[in-house]
Amino acid sequence: MIKVGIIGGSGYTGGELIRLLLNHPKTEIDFVFSTTRAGKAVTAAHADLLGQTDLLFTGTVNPDVDAVFLCLGHGNSTKFLEEHSFSEQTKIIDLSNDFRLQNDAEWNNLKFVYGLPELNRSKIIEATAIANPGCFATAIQLALLPLSKNGFLENDVHINAVTGSTGAGVGLSATSHFSWRNNNVSWYKPFTHQHLGEIGESLASYGNVIGKLHFLPNRGNFTRGILATAYTNFDGTLEEAQELFKDYYTDAAFTHVSDEPLHLKQVVNTNQCHIHLHKHEELLLVTSAIDNLLKGASGQAVQNLNLMFNLKEQTGLQLKAGVF
Ligand SMILES: NC(=O)c1ccc[n+]([C@@H]2O[C@H](COP(=O)([O-])OP(=O)(O)OC[C@H]3O[C@@H](n4cnc5c(N)ncnc54)[C@H](OP(=O)(O)O)[C@@H]3O)[C@@H](O)[C@H]2O)c1
Repeated sequence: MIKVGIIGGSGYTGGELIRLLLNHPKTEIDFVFSTTRAGKAVTAAHADLLGQTDLLFTGTVNPDVDAVFLCLGHGNSTKFLEEHSFSEQTKIIDLSNDFRLQNDAEWNNLKFVYGLPELNRSKIIEATAIANPGCFATAIQLALLPLSKNGFLENDVHINAVTGSTGAGVGLSATSHFSWRNNNVSWYKPFTHQHLGEIGESLASYGNVIGKLHFLPNRGNFTRGILATAYTNFDGTLEEAQELFKDYYTDAAFTHVSDEPLHLKQVVNTNQCHIHLHKHEELLLVTSAIDNLLKGASGQAVQNLNLMFNLKEQTGLQLKAGVF
């Protein structure tokens, strides 16, 4: 069994990892570290796990675990690694944005690989440290990578995406307060969202010219999931675009191209990314849908763990969507 530790266990991505790893046939949770709840039952923070685990949160780490997941807010992963060390064999998977950009990827003796399996599968298999991608970044890159690889992204790209409230973490804020969020929708950080950096680096990695990315993020009044749309000029036919995408994702374990228009619920509670293509005059519209906490965070982190430990990529991730 692979012994794992989870840091930031009372948050949303931490909770989702505990759920996944308790049901993973090859992992054993060694400890769940919490800054605020050491000594308390994990089920006190994650009530749905009642009867499934007797684990208590801890305030100390076991440095000899096989893998550790950092589920902390931005900047806190670096701080945590400065204050706690792990054995040279321990593989690290960080869910924050501390190590995602190429300029941040080397830290002390660690070299972080950007953990998007559809882009970096072979590098992930060899990696000892992973920078797990952002949630919007995952949905948007999966919508655009086949175009960037084949040199079809030289024109401007207009991107619109809506996320559920869990994207903002467990802490209560003005925009996650029920009275504000319910029956409401609004945009934020227009054209300046922090995920544009990692998206730009991945799209540019094939060496082709990339047009400007205009990204408008929205907050939706649901709890889970991201529906993203991106459109750009495309000279070819719809069938040519579909072939391009299906080719690119032939071997992808969780990313699939659908001929039918998407609805968010078909991927919520799963590690899937579904993609749909539509052509209107010269424009190609690409839609992608993911669960922000699974393919956008903890599910992708487990997918990366599976690759790093030479397990079948789908291990522990065959999940059921809550369609109705
Ligand atoms: N939510 C998403 O959909 C999503 C998707 C992709 C990536 N991410 C990234 O994953 C990371 C975790 O996200 P999350 O949604 O799980 O966040 P969260 O719900 O806010 O949980 C973060 C946890 O970090 C711990 N923590 C430790 N030091 C802290 C400090 N100084 N300030 C605040 N919290 C501290 C807390 O848990 P303890 O008290 O138990 O230590 C807290 O519950 C973030 O970097 C986020 O950007 C999130």
